[in-house]
Amino acid sequence: MAVLDQLTSQQAIDLENKYGAHNYHPLPVVLSRGEGVYVWDVEGKKYYDFLSAYSAVNQGHCHPKIVGAMTNQAQNLTLTSRAFYNDMLGKYEKFASEYFGFDKLLPMNTGAEAVETALKLCRKWAYEVKGINENEAEIIVCENNFHGRTTTIISFSNDPVARKNFGPYTDGFIKIEYDNLVALEGALKGNPNVAGFLVEPIQGEAGVYVPSEGYLAKAKALCEAHNVLFIADEVQTGIARTGQLLAVNHENVKPDVLILGKALSGGAYPVSAVMANDNVMNVIKPGNHGSTFGGNPVAAAVAIAALEVVQDEALAENAERLGRLFRSELNKFIETSSIATLVRGKGLLNAVVINDNEDSDTAWNICMALRDNGLLAKPTHGNIIRFAPPLVMNEEQLLDCVSIITKTLKQFEA
Ligand SMILES: Cc1ncc(COP(=O)(O)O)c(C=O)c1O
Repeated sequence: MAVLDQLTSQQAIDLENKYGAHNYHPLPVVLSRGEGVYVWDVEGKKYYDFLSAYSAVNQGHCHPKIVGAMTNQAQNLTLTSRAFYNDMLGKYEKFASEYFGFDKLLPMNTGAEAVETALKLCRKWAYEVKGINENEAEIIVCENNFHGRTTTIISFSNDPVARKNFGPYTDGFIKIEYDNLVALEGALKGNPNVAGFLVEPIQGEAGVYVPSEGYLAKAKALCEAHNVLFIADEVQTGIARTGQLLAVNHENVKPDVLILGKALSGGAYPVSAVMANDNVMNVIKPGNHGSTFGGNPVAAAVAIAALEVVQDEALAENAERLGRLFRSELNKFIETSSIATLVRGKGLLNAVVINDNEDSDTAWNICMALRDNGLLAKPTHGNIIRFAPPLVMNEEQLLDCVSIITKTLKQFEA
């Protein structure tokens, strides 16, 4: 078999199993093509993508404007490293800073790297601006968070699978309950060493937990009162996914530090960023932080195009409208269903809770049946299935998907 021969699904799966580290448990479907809201497997079967690469492909698969920007730039210049200037990075930094309303952007590649960047930025600000004694800064995080997979980030995860046997862990984090303002106030009060509060506006990986209305605005006010940076991890919730450009916009909150990734490139290329105003970002000096690929010209061109698509195609408005429709249709079904108990979410980031215990494989089996019926989704935790299609979906397609989902769920009714 030549390396690039066309494979069957089983051959592709066997290769990954034999030669790849087993760090994921993918649904058995092997994709070879994508366009808009659809993907195709190697045997040519077409599916609705209802995961969007964990909300990276908000702009739809292979969006022509994004692919065009990428290929065009790739023919001119791909990488200079930050040892030299390139003629794309500054344009992108200006564009994104104005787009999101911050003074400056620090470019990275993956979400986890951007979270790491934000943590470093927050600590340095704590020592050099807030005046905390060296090595004593603490950052408040939430239980059941998901911010990525690096050593520091898993240090404050409470997912045993992500943590076990990866110690020793990084110190300096205080963990509190999510959506609990009393806990936040308690952690802030009387502790002058708190530098930041890192929070997901909706906990995506944990199972699409939407906090109580007013939580983010009040949490931000508490942070302000204690001179603590409010750090919003919008890697999954950002870029129109929840029906606003940023999920914090639902509560008119302006974070001190904003973390973006995934759909910042429309899923075409690894692009992430940390944004902040000068009073915070200016603590970063040459040599403090960086990445060979961060801010490369292809990333810059792709991100500009991806952000333009979000505006050109009014994706936030579409996500808001179709999200409401999705939840109202699913709620109608749930009223008479014994297999699904709840649908929750914002915009097109939603989850359905399956009526079985967390250790059951019912949600997985439902996702297998959804696959057979032409729609790809995945459980987040145990009995919760996340539904997050590309935001370029139209109403007819969404209703078609609702009928696939409800038909499939019915197969599992007791
Ligand atoms: C909220 C949040 N932060 C960070 C990350 C990590 O991003 P990446 O997988 O690109 O490192 C994710 C990934 O799912 C995420 O959902």
